[in-house]
Amino acid sequence: MTKLWGGRFTKPTNKLVEEYTSSITFDQKLALQDIEGSIAHVEMLGACDIIEMSEVMQIKEGLLTIKEKVKKGDVTFSVEHEDIHMNIEKLLIDEIGPVGGKLHTGRSRNDQVATDMHLYLREKTKGLMELVEAVQSSLVEQAEKHVETILPGYTHLQRAQPVSFGHHLMAYFWMFERDKERLQDSLKRINWSPLGAAALAGTPYPIDRQMTSDALGFDQPYPNSLDAVSDRDFILEFLSISSIMITHISRLSEELILWGSQEFQFVELDDAFCTGSSIMPQKKNPDVPELLRGKTGRIYGHLMGLLTLLKGLPLAYNKDMQEDKEGMFDTVETLEGALSLLAPMLASMHVKGDQMKNAVNEDYSNATDIADYLAVKGMPFREAHEVIGKIVLYSIQQEKYLLDLTMEEYQDFSPLFEADIFEKLNPNQVVAARNSEGGTGFEQVNKQIQLAKEHLS
Ligand code: ARG
Repeated sequence: MTKLWGGRFTKPTNKLVEEYTSSITFDQKLALQDIEGSIAHVEMLGACDIIEMSEVMQIKEGLLTIKEKVKKGDVTFSVEHEDIHMNIEKLLIDEIGPVGGKLHTGRSRNDQVATDMHLYLREKTKGLMELVEAVQSSLVEQAEKHVETILPGYTHLQRAQPVSFGHHLMAYFWMFERDKERLQDSLKRINWSPLGAAALAGTPYPIDRQMTSDALGFDQPYPNSLDAVSDRDFILEFLSISSIMITHISRLSEELILWGSQEFQFVELDDAFCTGSSIMPQKKNPDVPELLRGKTGRIYGHLMGLLTLLKGLPLAYNKDMQEDKEGMFDTVETLEGALSLLAPMLASMHVKGDQMKNAVNEDYSNATDIADYLAVKGMPFREAHEVIGKIVLYSIQQEKYLLDLTMEEYQDFSPLFEADIFEKLNPNQVVAARNSEGGTGFEQVNKQIQLAKEHLS
């Protein structure tokens, strides 16, 4: 088989070299973007009188035929033609004859591949934003049902203060909201057109870069041709955003795993989202959140991989850059899979409010409220903290919780205690009282749920 670049060569390529340098096994994912870019390019060549309009029509028709075949899975790509760009060009020439060879006038694979990846990532970024929204909707839905479901809130994984479960879920809503914002913001930079930068230096043909940029829905052409073909910042940015997002997914997964354990028993994932053990019949394993947590490593890895790949590269294109693709594809697909599962898994999760309540009743997480009680009555908070520390120690020694102590016992610690202390210690009251902006008080939680819904609509 003759190469599209074979003219300068006297020998066929070594088979191992051919396989080693080829990217077709993975960059065929860019087939449709490649055709879209080629159509914009060839129409521009015609409009600028660089090739004949009749040739444009033939090339465009040929490309559309190939597009249909690609969609039907009706094409065979070959390693001999190295990558998606040359495979499609070869298919075009086979389809319409030598005139197909005019398509590559005034461009290079270097601006072509960059264009394809911008198109691909733009589409995927928008798709991911929708998937993030579906997860957010599940969170809001569950949060709304559980504004008044109370569980221990933790710091250092030690029970700290009781919180509303709706409040806890909504914390993740806002993390995903920032992820979505970051994706949205990155579109500004994804949406520049490298097309027409050619190999690195531009081209002597009187091309119209604004025209191809507009045709492909980009905001503007890259102002510098060297930058246009060398830039992979938009992929780095995507991998960074993805790393942050998978961190959020992983933290949430970790909590689902903990909460589902025998030790917590705060939630139970639906049977449809769990798996069994091949040896222990009693088990219902949280494989999905475990895998979601586990996927973190590969996405961080792809970010590190691309940072490392790029750090020493001189301008402009270097073949090293072919290595930018698999990590990008894998990250997109990993996130698509993760978000698609997370949304229905959260929506179908069974929340064990009674178990959560029991946990709150069996801890000292209302201790801060007694300190606040004394502070409101005039005792400096630091002193109140000391007094309550002693009360907690005393209670532990007596094997009692704070609500079990008698009025007399409280008054032994401070004469400021009155009968209303018991009401103040009631977990519902403890949560409701934290009505400061963004706090766990029911009123505040309802308020942020409303705000969240405005963000979603
Ligand atoms: N397959 C190549 C890549 O993915 C396309 C660009 C090739 N350019 C070149 N000058 N060899 O990076």
